[in-house]
Amino acid sequence: MKNAFKWVVASLCIGFAGCSSPSSFSEQALDYCAAQTERALEELQPLDYMLSPRNIAPDEHQWSLRPVSKELWTEGFWPGILWYTYEHTGDEQFRQAAEGYTEVLGFLKDMPAYDHDLGFIIFNSYGNGYRLTQNPQYKEVILAIADRIIELFNPQVGTLLSWPREVENFGGHNTIMDNMINLETLFWASEASGNPRYAEIARMHADTTMEYHFRPDGSSYHVAVYNAETGAFMRGCTHQGYADDSMWARGQAWAIYGYTMCYRFTKDERYREMACKAADIYLKQLPEDLVPYWDFNDPKIPAAPRDASAAAVVASALIELSGYVDGEQGAAYLKSAEQMLQSLDASYRGGDACPAFLIHSTGHHPAGSEIDYAIVYADYYYIEALLRLKQLRQA
Ligand code: GLY
Repeated sequence: MKNAFKWVVASLCIGFAGCSSPSSFSEQALDYCAAQTERALEELQPLDYMLSPRNIAPDEHQWSLRPVSKELWTEGFWPGILWYTYEHTGDEQFRQAAEGYTEVLGFLKDMPAYDHDLGFIIFNSYGNGYRLTQNPQYKEVILAIADRIIELFNPQVGTLLSWPREVENFGGHNTIMDNMINLETLFWASEASGNPRYAEIARMHADTTMEYHFRPDGSSYHVAVYNAETGAFMRGCTHQGYADDSMWARGQAWAIYGYTMCYRFTKDERYREMACKAADIYLKQLPEDLVPYWDFNDPKIPAAPRDASAAAVVASALIELSGYVDGEQGAAYLKSAEQMLQSLDASYRGGDACPAFLIHSTGHHPAGSEIDYAIVYADYYYIEALLRLKQLRQA
């Protein structure tokens, strides 16, 4: 297999003089990301902040754009990439573009939540912007968004509703694993405001999800459906995966990332254990090059498409998780994360063909949407993971 071969070469290379050490690997990979971002910005001139880069089809060479609207979920990733690129380079052109693409999203704070994706959109844009600039207006927006997110909380169930528009279709209060990522906004909001309510809701969501969203082996359902009145768990099923009982790669990635992040804020041992359990089943079933097929149970494997985005999310999560786990297990998580990033670098680059960092992601396979595309969230988590690796090596 072509990918596996390249991966073996890259792995061997790590161990020999003249090839990349982990720190110089992250530096060169980050420089590659910065060059791709600069190229994309040139291609997007004159910049229209209301048009957000979303994907690149396999036969296309430039970002396909989506108009900013309350109905998308990916608008925070491009400004997030710009903030991370600014963090790596210190180059003002990236900061200016990041501010422009961030600030057009502020309208979301003044309207009821369309769905749970508000956290994805605002924490990647305003959250990174606030972390790097301490702009007080950014803090106000994130706190207002936390108020919008908790409007989706159902105390009977104990989770945030993911898709208000899909309640009838699913026959109940639906919560998807992806929703774990929105808890970062809530935990942050409690720390930033001193109001414990956001974190209380985040913990209830994480606890309920831990109870119902996982199978005994640590793999997860994409969707959990609950009775909105009684709170009773009705069923686990899928929306973007192969089957109700399959392990959809990015859903599992959100689980690993989500519980790792919950442990960061709470130091609750149960969350760390959940993150490890979700990670262990994922790692055990990976193909040789450590980039998963879009769903671990697609019977078409090995002819099924990959999902580089899941690999990037998991690499970023494992670098963080490795800092919370002692001994051999923590070291193994870090090594796996480094190997995933090396594999993405070796065989999944957009390179000259297109300005995305990575290609070969899968968006919504059952809908036939974004299969084997470059997708903006893959790039976001890839550059985040590389920055985490660089910072770890410098510490
Ligand atoms: N629903 C968000 C995702 O595709 O991961």
